[in-house]
Amino acid sequence: MTRWIIILSGPISSGKSTLAELLAVRFNMKVVKTKQLLMSSLASKGETGGRISLQDEGDKLDKRTKGMWIADELAKLVVNSGRDDSFIIDSARIAEQVKAIRNAFPSVIHVHLKAPLTTLTSRYNKRIKNETGAPSYDKVRENPTELNVGTMEEIADIVIDTDRCTSEDVFIRATSRMSLFSSRRGYVDVIVGGQYGSEGKGQIVDYLADDYDIIVRVGGPNAGHTVPEGEGTFVYHMLPSGARTHQVHLVLGPGMVVNPIKLMEEIAKCNVDVSKLTIDPNVMVITAKDVETEEKLVRDIGSTGSGVGAATARRIMDRRLQGVKLARDIDELDPYTSRKAIDVLSEALAHNKRVLIEGTQGTGLSLYHGEYPHVTSRDTIVAGCLSEAGIAPMRVRRVIMVCRTYPIRVKNPEGGSSGRLSQEINWQIISKRSEIPLKELEEHERGSTTGRLRRVGEFDWKLLQESSFLNGPTDIALTFADYLSNKNAKAFRFDQLEPSTIQFIEEIERVSGAPVTLIATGLGERHVIDRRSW
Ligand code: IMP
Repeated sequence: MTRWIIILSGPISSGKSTLAELLAVRFNMKVVKTKQLLMSSLASKGETGGRISLQDEGDKLDKRTKGMWIADELAKLVVNSGRDDSFIIDSARIAEQVKAIRNAFPSVIHVHLKAPLTTLTSRYNKRIKNETGAPSYDKVRENPTELNVGTMEEIADIVIDTDRCTSEDVFIRATSRMSLFSSRRGYVDVIVGGQYGSEGKGQIVDYLADDYDIIVRVGGPNAGHTVPEGEGTFVYHMLPSGARTHQVHLVLGPGMVVNPIKLMEEIAKCNVDVSKLTIDPNVMVITAKDVETEEKLVRDIGSTGSGVGAATARRIMDRRLQGVKLARDIDELDPYTSRKAIDVLSEALAHNKRVLIEGTQGTGLSLYHGEYPHVTSRDTIVAGCLSEAGIAPMRVRRVIMVCRTYPIRVKNPEGGSSGRLSQEINWQIISKRSEIPLKELEEHERGSTTGRLRRVGEFDWKLLQESSFLNGPTDIALTFADYLSNKNAKAFRFDQLEPSTIQFIEEIERVSGAPVTLIATGLGERHVIDRRSW
């Protein structure tokens, strides 16, 4: 991050100290109060004094050093600070002071604040209300230097009239000059499923987690993301994958739908500290009635019956009624809902942090792009994930689309359809082709949310082409490479994969237009072949 030296100027009560404080808190900048420097200067002579004596001391120092004294003090502080520490000077009063600082440091921004005299006077009066013997505003601006402060406007980089502005407004206007909230700062990568869910997104998110500062989950508890953990696995339903084991901040985006009881259980199971998790206050909450409402849907289309769709429908239909509860209305979630996702994300990106969005389900299950009615209750593609997380498309650096070697669909428990699967086959066929024991496959291939045995099909090239069109992947993560041949499970490098698997990967790259940069060969450690150049 650039080391900024921000010089504030402006008349008394123009809002300088409030701005300095916000910059200090939000961007960890260090405030240099010229008032403090003047007090120290007086103290070194055994003197003390109020505002008027400080003004006089400032004038004396300006005269003696030709305005260099602030730059000199700043130089001492900079030498003893971290490489990227930025400083705010609160405040400069004459042009020479600014010039001296500009001569001594690069990346100096001079922000001049102003407001009409009536506003300044009224703010000042409010401030001194409880002080006895404080001089009037007219008195404090009598000092010739103070009277001239308005001329600093001519040399400033930005001038902000703080009248009719909140302190947040002033903060945003000031930081825009430093591009602190620019879209060029930080980046966002997105993981999406390219088929019908259960593509192994959890494993990929967990594998990549240490490369990010924040992981944002979207969707709802109808998804189950399985992550290898030691000898076994752990299934996440609402928290981002790897929440238990990685030092990342976790965010549940405002478009998410949660089951609060199960979420609290998951938080406890994952031992997630309050400081590590932000739940957007607008996250929708599922009720027992929502789960009940979906019972019919379980029979009709093989829904997971988690209540996500029913809650989503209520979120829209019950806006005038009192029945809708959002995360902000649930007492147990209070510790996690104090900040909005947008505040956490915009601040993180302003600090050049790296964000990963963990999409759920798969493109083929999209409410809009899947084969209705065998779809889920949200748009599962990248655009939908961004919307639920609250991130603009132009922020996105990479889109990693996860695809299985054999796509699956969750079975309908009542024997009815759970949707089209191009060229449906069965686990016996895969067992024979891969030489993985059937029992092992059947144990593994149960829905992580429903426990139902999954249906399976041949790799669907048309679906790959459509998913690629809808998501524009920069990368493909291919999972279950061991299902092509169990020999792949022993491959730690790309060249160790079976020649037919390499051919298959080349074809995926041709059809999708994106490189296959991650290849999962099983669910254990060292089971991801990483070909990324990023
Ligand atoms: P619902 O979203 O629970 O109503 O389910 C609608 C359809 O999407 C059903 O066929 C589910 O099995 C499927 N589905 C929903 N979420 C997932 C998932 O995370 N993985 C796989 N299938 C899912």
